[in-house]
Amino acid sequence: MDGIRIRGGRALSGRVRVSGSKNAALPILCATLLSDGESLVRNVPDLRDIGTTGQLLETMGCSVACAPPTVRVKPNDVTPEAPYELVKQMRASVLVLGPLLARYGRAKVSLPGGCQIGSRPVDQHLKGLEALGATIRTDHGYVLAEASRLRGAEVVFDMPTVTGTENLLMAGALAKGRTTLVNCAREPEVIELARVLNKMGAKIRGAGTPVIEIEGQDELAPFDHAIIPDRIEAGTYLVAAAAAGGDVLVENVPVDDLEALLAKLRASGVTLEPDGSGVRVLRHGRLRSVDVTTSPHPGFPTDMQAQFMVLMCMAEGTSRISETVFENRFMHVPELARMGADIEVQGHTAFVKHTARLDGTEVMATDLRASASLVIAGLVAEGETLVRRVYHLDRGYERMEEKLGALGADVTRERGIDG
Ligand code: UD1
Repeated sequence: MDGIRIRGGRALSGRVRVSGSKNAALPILCATLLSDGESLVRNVPDLRDIGTTGQLLETMGCSVACAPPTVRVKPNDVTPEAPYELVKQMRASVLVLGPLLARYGRAKVSLPGGCQIGSRPVDQHLKGLEALGATIRTDHGYVLAEASRLRGAEVVFDMPTVTGTENLLMAGALAKGRTTLVNCAREPEVIELARVLNKMGAKIRGAGTPVIEIEGQDELAPFDHAIIPDRIEAGTYLVAAAAAGGDVLVENVPVDDLEALLAKLRASGVTLEPDGSGVRVLRHGRLRSVDVTTSPHPGFPTDMQAQFMVLMCMAEGTSRISETVFENRFMHVPELARMGADIEVQGHTAFVKHTARLDGTEVMATDLRASASLVIAGLVAEGETLVRRVYHLDRGYERMEEKLGALGADVTRERGIDG
């Protein structure tokens, strides 16, 4: 397993370009299953999760030419089964469930199981598909779903779920009649999937609002689509630049999708200047602590909570960071504490006190965004930090060490250090 070694204490300067969105690309790659022809997806980031999705589609019988930034997929003789070996590597594999069931009348998809940030059930996905007429049972760790033809219906989600909304969008697009989804996730990635499905011939209205209406179609056409930039990668570089100090232009930032984060950065004393399609980040002087509560979009994204916490370690005062989306998303706290951070967790809230300085040491990445937070901590820490198990980071950040290196950070990848 690889690690990342960071020699901290350097301010960052220069430009960094944001890649295509991972969380938009994953459902869109799964949407290729909804038509017979070859679809072309462009601006796809070169990430492990994309490779896993390509492998999954190939295992099921699609021809896949996975060469990010372009990926071509053509379903051939599809066997609608997603095996545990692939699903366990990436929970988002569950996104094949809706399209397989809608297009092939059955699906056998391994249950994703738990993950570091909580139990993350898929009950809402299953409840929604059942409402559309699917018969669903679980057997030996697999979801077995069947429906000769899904029928449009109303689905009311108990909570806004991103991949749940996406699965139902794809299922509803090929269902007979009208589907109404209520209490939907409003994330930009949901809107992007609806855009693609409409390109394929679906009739979807209301994506980006809590209620989405879908007029089901008998068939859908292949598509050609370039993925939106990754708002979480953009946010991560904005926070990294703010934490390390200096003058950085983050290019290709979906500013409208990041309002909650940008407001908190400004409130903490970071200067953000719009510059073309990018944002210039400057930090002069001290940071002020601000409180943050994660919530579904357009609230503060849970996927930025760990990175923002590092920034708050350096801010004057005490910051209260509450996590309301996932039950166990403070795995980075003990690792940051090993670097000298003063953070107390009470239930779903972390109280982050000002730390005069972080010290470089060996830390362990536990999940994707936690890994990014440890890299940021390494950038500001005194001395050397070794972040172990960065395979998490490779799931979601394209060539992070190169991008940070181009900004003047001293970051190197150490190959195979964890056996
Ligand atoms: C997606 C993102 C992930 C992000 C998360 C929240 C992708 C591939 N991943 O994950 O990066 O952190 O949104 O913004 O887009 N829940 C249930 N039952 C369900 C579904 C969800 O109880 O059937 C709960 C979850 O446990 C969680 C909350 O709903 O507490 C939101 O989760 P959800 O939006 O579904 O997250 P993902 O779609 O898995």
